[in-house]
Formats: sequence, structure tokens, C-alpha cells
Amino acid sequence: MATLSDTVINYSDLVEETGNGLRVSGRVYQDPQIFEEELDRIFHRGWVFVGHESEVAEPGEFITRAIGNQPVIMSRDSDGQVHVLLNRCRHRSATVCQQDRGSAFTFMCAYHGWTYGNDGHLIGTPFNGGRGGYDECFKREDYGLVRVPRVASHRGFVFGSLSPVGQSFDDYLGQAKAYLDRFCDMAPEGEVLARAGRQKTRVEGNWKLQVENLTDQYHVSFTHQTALRRPGRDATAITMDDPYQVQRDLGGGHTVIDRFQANRNTGENLNERVTGATGTLDPEVVSRVAERMGEEAAEYVSTGGPPHIMIFPNLMVLWNAFRVLQPVRPNLSYIYYHPTFLKGASDEVNTRRLRAHENGFGPAGFINPDDADMFARIQTGTKASVDDWSLLTRGTAGEATEPDDFGQPSLTTQVLGETAQRGIWRHYRDVMNEG
Ligand code: FES
Ligand SMILES: [Fe+2]
Repeated sequence: MATLSDTVINYSDLVEETGNGLRVSGRVYQDPQIFEEELDRIFHRGWVFVGHESEVAEPGEFITRAIGNQPVIMSRDSDGQVHVLLNRCRHRSATVCQQDRGSAFTFMCAYHGWTYGNDGHLIGTPFNGGRGGYDECFKREDYGLVRVPRVASHRGFVFGSLSPVGQSFDDYLGQAKAYLDRFCDMAPEGEVLARAGRQKTRVEGNWKLQVENLTDQYHVSFTHQTALRRPGRDATAITMDDPYQVQRDLGGGHTVIDRFQANRNTGENLNERVTGATGTLDPEVVSRVAERMGEEAAEYVSTGGPPHIMIFPNLMVLWNAFRVLQPVRPNLSYIYYHPTFLKGASDEVNTRRLRAHENGFGPAGFINPDDADMFARIQTGTKASVDDWSLLTRGTAGEATEPDDFGQPSLTTQVLGETAQRGIWRHYRDVMNEG
């Protein structure tokens, strides 16, 4: 929310086209006014990922999350309906649910005892009637928990918008939708389950560092040497030689690393090679996918491997998991890692999948801590503001609009380029300039 003391920021001055790419001012990682404007313009007006339906699979289950900095509850009521409610008591505004997840049919505010059903309606207020109580104007039905104005889901992924008007969900999801479909299609029953809990990484860096990083492969050979050099892993997995490993700007700030065709060409899944099992090449899984989609499609989907996508502004879907990004302060973010199971796969496949996830992305994983440390270094580095620019000029010469694995045209370059990052920043600049 802008205040009277704020200056008007022209984001085209901070995300600057250079003629052969662009450069970004370090201010976008440091400035508290910019952070507040991001919350307002990106997180509180646009669509934001909230949670996965399988996290509240059973009636009564709930999770608490945030849209931007606003606390919400996602719950499933006794009739199986999913609700996304603001976690704010209608009396004097205390949060009514404190747990990260659990099961409850009511939420009682601990301040004065107002009690709500898990569908949000106000069940009761203590001490009614008589002197000191509410008069007859007070109607309980007017004081249910406030609903997030717009909620929509795709293949179990639930998104919310705090604005009652604006871009439609379909327009928002855009080309990213096909990649969510692919992630789910690889499961025997066409769904993933996120019921193994989540772990949180605290990052001493700005939230956008993770957005840029998810489709950055340039850093991998250096930041992730530990992962690549372990026995049985391939330190040369990412090179400039493979034209089939590409990165794409899908529009709307969404970006991907696309290795589908590279995986098919080599007959193996690069994700399996680097991180261990995704389970999606397991013959039993592939044959169950074939029952659903037909053999040719199952072969195509399974050998291509899982997607690797950043869905702007806060959802990442890759390998065995999805991740959710939570901005906290200009220099602090949380990343939540949600390992997923393939619905209908054997316990053995899903357990291997979970172990592989922990191996790469658990608290002592071989990949995740390295990125978090780099984000903190960038956060420190961008304090040095004499020449305030970060450079995003790779891959402009080879950049072209090409169809992706789903036939959708998207701006593409070889995987070691920065086309995807430029796409993110151009989208960011345009949304922020809308004011
Ligand atoms: S603030 Fe919740 S009951 Fe008073
Ligand atoms: Fe990384």
C-alpha cells in the first residue's frame, strides 16, 4: 500500500532494456517501498497459489497459508467442499486458526470465543442477550469468516485472488496449464498427492531471486557441484551442446526449462540421472498411465520426464515436488517444499520418490541449501550500489519463438541462456507499472 511519503517509482527505470537483453537495478531486491508495492500489485491483486486439494483431502482437514502477507485458511467442510477463508476473526480481528495444518470442524477465536464452522459461517458468540450483549441488530449470518473473493483450481492446485475483479484464472494460468497437466498425467491415476508434509527453507534473500533461479541452468555447474560430482552422477549433464535442452518464456511471468525432447532423445530421464527416482519411468507406472491415455501417449509423457516450471509469482513444479514461495521482507523469504506422491503408484515407488526428494531438497539435501546460500550472497552483493545493475543478456542471438512440447508458441533459447529470466522481468515491469 503506497503512503504519502512514497515516491512514484517508474519500473522501466529499474528493469531496463539494453538493446541486447536487459539489466535490473539492485533496488528491486532491497527497497522496502518496492516490496510493499509488489505485495499490493502482484500478490494482493493477482492470482496466487494457495494449496493443493489433497492437503485437505478429508472432511475437516485444514491448512493455514498466506496470500502475500494476508493469512488464509484452506479447509474442507463436512460436505467435502473446499473453502479459502481469511484467517481473521470478524469481532476484533485475531487469527482464529494457529496451526499449520490439522483437522477441526470449528475454529474458536481465543480472544473472546467467537466460533466458526470450517465452512466459515459464524456458529456462535458467547454471552448473548441482556445488558452488555449484542442488540437485535446483530445478525450472526453477517459475520462469517470472509471468503477470498476469487478461488479457482486446476488438477488439484488451488489458487486465490484477493481482488474480486481482474484477469480471469484461465488467462492467468495461460500456457502454464499444460505443464500442470503433464505433471499430473504422469501418475497412474492422473493425480498427485501432497500428503507427506512440507519443509521450510528460510532464505535471507528477496523472493524474486528464487523466481529467477528456478529456470536458470547457467548456475547449476557451479552452485551445484556437490550434487553433480557425487558417485553415479553426471557432472557434464548441462552443456551448451544439446540444442534440445531449452528454456522458454511462456508469458505472464511463467517460465520453463524444457528437457522433454532431450530426455526422449537420450532414452533416459535427466532428472532421474541427477536427483534419483521420480518413479515416472517405472514400468508399472507407465503401464497404468497407458491404460488411461493409450500406449503412445503414455510413452511420450513418461519418456519426456516431469516438467520444470515456475508459475509466477509463487508456485514451482518440478521433479517430485512442488514448491511455494513466500515473501516476508525485502531481504527474507520462505520456500516450502512439498514432496508429492503419484496417485495409484505402489508404496515402493512413492517411497523411493520421497527419499530422492529428501536427498536433493531436504534440510541436508545436496541441492537446495546451495541455492539458498547463493540468494543470501546476492542479497548482500546488491547492497553495493555504485554500479547498480544485474545483467541478463545471454542467449539473445539464438532466441526464437518456437512451439513447446504442447505445440504452444513461446520465446525460446538454449538452456544456458537468460530468455526465461528476461520474460519474468518484463512481466514484472509491466504489472508494477500498472500502478
Ligand atoms: S477477536 Fe475474536 S472473539 Fe474477539
Ligand atoms: Fe539451483
